Amino acid sequence: MCGIVGYVGTRKAMPILMEGLAQLEYRGYDSAGVALNRGAGIDVIKRCGRLQELKKALPKRSAAKCGIGHTRWATHGEPSDLNAHPHTDPSGELVLVHNGIVENARELAGFLEAKGIDFATETDSEVLAALIAHEYQELETPDLFEAVQSALNRVTGAYGIAVMHTSVPDEIVIARNGSPVVLGLGEHEMFVASDASALVSHTRQVIYLDDGDVCRVRAREYEIENLLDQHADRQPVTIDLESTRYELGEFDTFTLKEISEQPDAIRRVLRGRLDKRFNTAHFGGLNLEPAEMLGFKRIKLLGCGSALIAGSIGASLIERLARIPADAESAAEFRYRNPIIERDTLYFAISQSGETYDTLSAVQEIQRKGGTVLGVVNVVGSSIARQCGAGVYLHAGPEIAVVSTKTFTSTVVVFALLALYLGRMRDLSPAEGGRIIEALEKLPEQVEGLVARKEEVAEVAERYARFSDAYFVGRGESFGLAREGALKLKEVSYIHAEAYPASELKHGPLALIDEETPTVAIVPDDDLYAKNISTLEEIRTRGGPLLAIGQSDELAGFVDDCVVVPQTHPALQPIVHLIPLQLLAYECAKIRECDVDKPRNLAKSVTVE
Ligand code: G6P
Repeated sequence: MCGIVGYVGTRKAMPILMEGLAQLEYRGYDSAGVALNRGAGIDVIKRCGRLQELKKALPKRSAAKCGIGHTRWATHGEPSDLNAHPHTDPSGELVLVHNGIVENARELAGFLEAKGIDFATETDSEVLAALIAHEYQELETPDLFEAVQSALNRVTGAYGIAVMHTSVPDEIVIARNGSPVVLGLGEHEMFVASDASALVSHTRQVIYLDDGDVCRVRAREYEIENLLDQHADRQPVTIDLESTRYELGEFDTFTLKEISEQPDAIRRVLRGRLDKRFNTAHFGGLNLEPAEMLGFKRIKLLGCGSALIAGSIGASLIERLARIPADAESAAEFRYRNPIIERDTLYFAISQSGETYDTLSAVQEIQRKGGTVLGVVNVVGSSIARQCGAGVYLHAGPEIAVVSTKTFTSTVVVFALLALYLGRMRDLSPAEGGRIIEALEKLPEQVEGLVARKEEVAEVAERYARFSDAYFVGRGESFGLAREGALKLKEVSYIHAEAYPASELKHGPLALIDEETPTVAIVPDDDLYAKNISTLEEIRTRGGPLLAIGQSDELAGFVDDCVVVPQTHPALQPIVHLIPLQLLAYECAKIRECDVDKPRNLAKSVTVE
């Protein structure tokens, strides 16, 4: 998704902006650009395609010490040099980079066109640049900060922006509403970014803007007000991110790096959260007393994409261990169906980035109606984490590849812990709690063992990567895994993949099973094992290629290929079955020569509707 960077200080801006943009590449983009404020004028350089294209077009050197940059993921207007950011006003004196969507752009464009302003692009961002320039000219004493405030008062929609004007070559004005903007405080220099990862190599002292904030940024000072001209007091926080952890290291791709980091990610999720005295789990940030927790009669989990799927597995675990009715729903669907918010329902918002707009809006809808919502979030200090104010951090470390791997696993482990905690408040016995803790403690090593079997999965992938369609089937929590397996495969290898509950296969999709349509079946050693074997027979009879991921050696007798995973507590089966599914998608993508870290058309963090 779109990314913003900015710099004002004593050093040359261009290399700092380019370095920041490179850090944001992982979010997904189709064009990029920078604007360098020389005072005598602003140079705007922008190109469709990857950063290398932009690099080729940059001047050899630029003395500008103030600039802004952008990676764009097209929403309004196709990816092109023209539509790329920064955008300028018609005079070329004001430049802007923008994340988000201006919903009343058409109406604002009409207003400006009536005043004789023509637009060169199809973007809402150009309209915003022209609107700020218009407000600037209307002011008695021209001031960029005030012009931004006044323009934003006329805007509906979501935005994170950074704006410069030739008349103030040492100033950037930034603003936020629904799309994150972070200010990084340096020594006689300031950094701006839409994501702290882009400035963490320069400073750890940051200020997260809140919705409605407008901030004047200069090398040695900043000033924040809201849209009503009132002063806003925002305290700097120290972020705990190591810039080195964004490096590829010995790996070819971030996807593989992050798959391999899963044992450590699980260790971090578990750290300090296991209570062996009472055979339960504990969490520092829920901010709810046990009595309040006991009062909840239902649990609802909300998220998008993989976060939603991890939530569906989480809901099954809560029902299984705590016997509390629980379900997961797409945050985007939820927020628009005028949901009934009940006092005795506990809501969880799940998000790796903590910035997904639909999930954030669902949180705001719940809070507006008086409901209780906790965040399950990876990025510390992100919008959803701050909006919820309480919850559980994944501590999985930065996830760069567009598709989530380690944060999916960490989310499922968090819900296993929450299910244990809620279960032990109710009917789950201490002995069963103890068995779950024992299994959780073994999990990192088991996952390590599975990751090390990459070559075995690669060999299997050789036989499956050539197909154009695939089914993934499972029952119960394994159906959630089938959904994740299918999603991963289609995202990174572009093989059309569909997930079905194994029980539903004979009610429709069986019609499509033939020698060219393989099925990946998740077959744990559980009460439904025999039922799953019947499903495998149904597929085999129709000649469909079969790959099983399961726990029994006996499976090899029923299928063409089989990956046998270790035994664990039934509640943790999803984790051990997940790793081969991730590796399968990865290896198929490699064989098909796809860009596994940055799948086409997808963004890491979707900060628009
Ligand atoms: C995008 C990504 C998905 C991700 C989803 C939710 O669609 O491509 O991989 O699962 O957003 O992201 P979040 O940051 O809220 O977990």
